[in-house]
Amino acid sequence: MVKVVAVLYPGGPAAKEVPELLGCAENALGLGPLLKAGGHELVAITDAGAELDKQLPTANVLIATPFWPAYVTKERMERAPHLKLLLTAGVGSDHFDLQAAADRGITVAEITGSNVVSVAEHVVLQILALVRNFIPSYQEVIAGGWDIGKIAARSHDLEDKTVGIFGLGRIGQRVAARLKPFDVRVLYYDNRRLSAVEEQVLGVRYMHYDAMLPQCDVVSINAPLTPATERFFDKRRLAQMKKGSYLVNTARGKIVDTDALVAALKSGHLAGYAGDVWYPQPAPRDHPWRTMPHHAMTPHVSGTSLEAQKRYAEGIRECVTRFLEGRPLDREYLIVEGGKIVSPSYAYAYGKGT
Ligand code: NAI
Repeated sequence: MVKVVAVLYPGGPAAKEVPELLGCAENALGLGPLLKAGGHELVAITDAGAELDKQLPTANVLIATPFWPAYVTKERMERAPHLKLLLTAGVGSDHFDLQAAADRGITVAEITGSNVVSVAEHVVLQILALVRNFIPSYQEVIAGGWDIGKIAARSHDLEDKTVGIFGLGRIGQRVAARLKPFDVRVLYYDNRRLSAVEEQVLGVRYMHYDAMLPQCDVVSINAPLTPATERFFDKRRLAQMKKGSYLVNTARGKIVDTDALVAALKSGHLAGYAGDVWYPQPAPRDHPWRTMPHHAMTPHVSGTSLEAQKRYAEGIRECVTRFLEGRPLDREYLIVEGGKIVSPSYAYAYGKGT
């Protein structure tokens, strides 16, 4: 008998009303029938603290999502002697200590590609929300006002602007593709450069970040959280950005320095910030990004549209099925295997840094 523990967000009344809400604890990624049929145990919980600690000593497989993360540290892995597989229902497995998992021979996998379109759409939405000054405009309507001057004084066209993409992987490339009709100049930095043909098709130009940041009106962060990207956008890098520019981060909250960002928005150096990723998550009520000026933040929802949930739930069921049958997981999904960090996006940073 295999014990699968899934830490998932509480769906509330929507869990019943919308059965497609597969990523919540109540619906547990559709794993219930699959595990029951094989005589296995499924424990779906929402508490990534004490309740998870209680389950760890007997867990064989642990599933978590980036939206409602379970931070599985080295110490926690030490308390889980039977843990063989850590799965991320979504993309981005930084909530697991990847090196510790490798050292303990635990396999880590995520559902590569499952929500990349969902996030790319959200990035474009948030770029437009900032540049067009949408949020204050909407709030003006709700407040019963009609102050055109106040709203228009901070509203621009995106056309003719320069957008920089930091991390041009699956999401970054989709952002570039979706920005094409807006007639913008797209620059990118990634530690793996695309071929000249790929760059031409996407309409992007490679540039080192030191040269790119001062030129961009908008920067979108689409790189994973690794030792090389943690707090990469600190006081110094934010100062490198063009005055009056916008930063959108749907990658991970920790890539941006919390206090340095608030200071850059308060001073007016940055004109706005948007994204859906925070640290920690769920963000506490007094998280400074909730109340900083000129933001268009959402909770971590971009990669969990109903379509995305369908895709990552299918991917998780496939991984669990293969694990139960003793078959190897899809190589595309593997982050850590055989004592090594094998995903190119992560391995580079753990090995060499930016
Ligand atoms: P990907 O692996 O396809 O692309 C990541 C890109 O970042 C790669 O091209 C890689 O070479 C590059 N990269 C790695 N380290 C870098 C560094 N130090 N500097 C510059 N570039 C670097 O991953 P994908 O699917 O595009 O996702 C990217 C990230 O977005 C994920 O790791 C995750 O953290 C986040 N994400 C957020 C979601 C959300 O709901 N907000 C959903 C899905 C992903």
